[in-house]
Amino acid sequence: MNGFSSSLLANKTVLVTGAGKGIGRACALMAAKCGAQVIAVARTQADLIALQNEHPSHIQVWQEDITSPHFLDRVLSLNELHGLVNNVGTNKVANMFDQADEDLDIVLDLNLKSLYRTAKAALTPIKKAGGGAIVNMSSQMAYVGSPGRTLYCMSKHGVEGLTKAMGVELAPLGIRVNSVCPTFVLTPMTKPMLENEEFKEFVYNMIPMKKLATTEDVANACLFLLSELASMVTATSIKVDGGWTAQ
Ligand SMILES: NC(=O)c1ccc[n+]([C@@H]2O[C@H](COP(=O)([O-])OP(=O)(O)OC[C@H]3O[C@@H](n4cnc5c(N)ncnc54)[C@H](OP(=O)(O)O)[C@@H]3O)[C@@H](O)[C@H]2O)c1
Repeated sequence: MNGFSSSLLANKTVLVTGAGKGIGRACALMAAKCGAQVIAVARTQADLIALQNEHPSHIQVWQEDITSPHFLDRVLSLNELHGLVNNVGTNKVANMFDQADEDLDIVLDLNLKSLYRTAKAALTPIKKAGGGAIVNMSSQMAYVGSPGRTLYCMSKHGVEGLTKAMGVELAPLGIRVNSVCPTFVLTPMTKPMLENEEFKEFVYNMIPMKKLATTEDVANACLFLLSELASMVTATSIKVDGGWTAQ
């Protein structure tokens, strides 16, 4: 199967958070293959070096915690930026009776507040570039509830609200804001969940396509939204969920 053209994002600078593993890594690699200059952000240096080695001329790496003021300052100080994949996120699976109170802040801080702060910092260099596109990584859980996932669902529903409001507010500046909502993808985050056979069966039963999404399936949606192909698409979301949420 042929993918996007290798010049789809030529002359564009794209920042991808959480690019060391999983979905973020796939987005960074695909953006680089489509000609973008990619800034890949994560905390684990070994992951970043391995990623950069795959496409050294198009990937620079920042070893940063996206919740740190240092990271936000670096984003704010960029000369120009055309795209942001606001991808970092986490989950603390538990039923409400057992959920630790501290999980509430951990999930909301990373999945929601850090996306807002990263996007806010990115607005300055995106404005300098004359406009651009932000893709917030959401989830199918932004549209449904699921057992053990109250915090995750709450945070991802918030990501949809953030996306719509930012998209409306920033449209006059030529800044498009959208989200991507994947179903389950096998990544380091979900590997332990999907090793539970009962849970895996539940997931496959819920997905009409009867397969997991791949990191590339999700990256394809992100790349479309980052590119001029989506020039009239803003304040909305693309579900890459194999039909989960349509039932
Ligand atoms: N996998 C799925 O099934 C699925 C489905 C729907 C939505 N999503 C969403 O997709 C996004 C990515 O998920 P994933 O499964 O690819 O996650 P993952 O496998 O856990 O990878 C997350 C990446 O983010 C980095 N990261 C985490 N915290 C960070 C921080 N504070 N600062 C900088 N980098 C940080 C991690 O590297 P370091 O730890 O080295 O920093 C890693 O490279 C999340 O928003 C998730 O909610 C995932």
